[in-house]
Amino acid sequence: MKKVGLVGWRGMVGSVLLERMQQENDFALIDTTFFTTSQTGQLGPNLAGDAKPLLNASDIGELAKMDIIITCQGGDYTNAVYPALRESGWDGYWIDAASALRMSDDSIIVLDPVNKDVIKQGLDQGVKTFVGGNCTVSLMLLALGGLFEQDLIEWVSPMTYQAASGAGARNMKELIAQMGAIYASVAQQLDNPSSAILEIDKIVSEKMAVNDLPHDQFGVPLAGSLIPWIDVPMPSGQSKEEWKAQVEANKILGSSKQPVPIDGLCVRIGAMRCHSQAMTIKLREDISVERIEEILASHNEWVKVIPNEREISATDLTPVKVTGTLNIPVGRIRKLAMGAKYISAFTVGDQLLWGAAEPLRRMLRIIVG
Ligand code: HSE
Repeated sequence: MKKVGLVGWRGMVGSVLLERMQQENDFALIDTTFFTTSQTGQLGPNLAGDAKPLLNASDIGELAKMDIIITCQGGDYTNAVYPALRESGWDGYWIDAASALRMSDDSIIVLDPVNKDVIKQGLDQGVKTFVGGNCTVSLMLLALGGLFEQDLIEWVSPMTYQAASGAGARNMKELIAQMGAIYASVAQQLDNPSSAILEIDKIVSEKMAVNDLPHDQFGVPLAGSLIPWIDVPMPSGQSKEEWKAQVEANKILGSSKQPVPIDGLCVRIGAMRCHSQAMTIKLREDISVERIEEILASHNEWVKVIPNEREISATDLTPVKVTGTLNIPVGRIRKLAMGAKYISAFTVGDQLLWGAAEPLRRMLRIIVG
């Protein structure tokens, strides 16, 4: 049995990962050691047999005893520990949720329903570092996998509607607190059927305008508004989240030398944990919508084509429907007025599952066979 060290399993992504590993009985296949950055010596969880004391996640000697390390601890931890561990001569598999090593030449971004060949080839060539992709990138590729696989996409412009979870657990709580504060500010008026909506709107608008909502995390109101910028600026004028789309997607697809252009705007909205994306796609050929739907639907077992109809789009193509599941609905597929090769599509995916935890545990499965 391979010795697997888990780091960062208590955080939001790590907790989702552990839950999925339990559901899929992954722990039966591995000899697990839990590491900690703050509670060395305390008793760990008993998910994988008897609870054992937690080991220090900065102890290179202990880490080096592992065959595989999976970390959801974040980029600072990776930057602090990974180089020293490799320099110590450790030759194990490093599976990471953070972006720190994603674009390095000796790592592979894992999304096996889309790039199993790239992963297998990497393993054959001795690659030992595997990193989960950016959430919007992974969710887009799972939705459009069929069209990418058949090289039918000339370019894509994804406009995102990203959930609070992508910014972190505290941000999710803050979003709810903002919603509560908005409601509380006009609860009396809402109870009174004769209250005028414009009066209610004025109170809410003023409260938001002076930033009188909890805002330690987002800095501004998200509830009742949106934030059209995610992550730090890049010299190109893109946000870093926008920059990731093309570089990461092409690295996943193994097409970095002749990249498919992928660029759009990334926007934070008041959803909890599902990222949505509206995509404008230029195809290389004029293909019928029916054929496009067939190609998309047959690519993997999680993508589901939603007919371009009002009712089912409003129920099934939404964060509410997808949250907590591995389903990747894709709908609103139609030809655009720009021409026969231009189509729209809209997709939704759980940012913590396929967007973060699931590709990591599937990579573990590939390694342990
Ligand atoms: N960067 C993403 C976001 C989440 O802010 O939504 C992680 O991929």
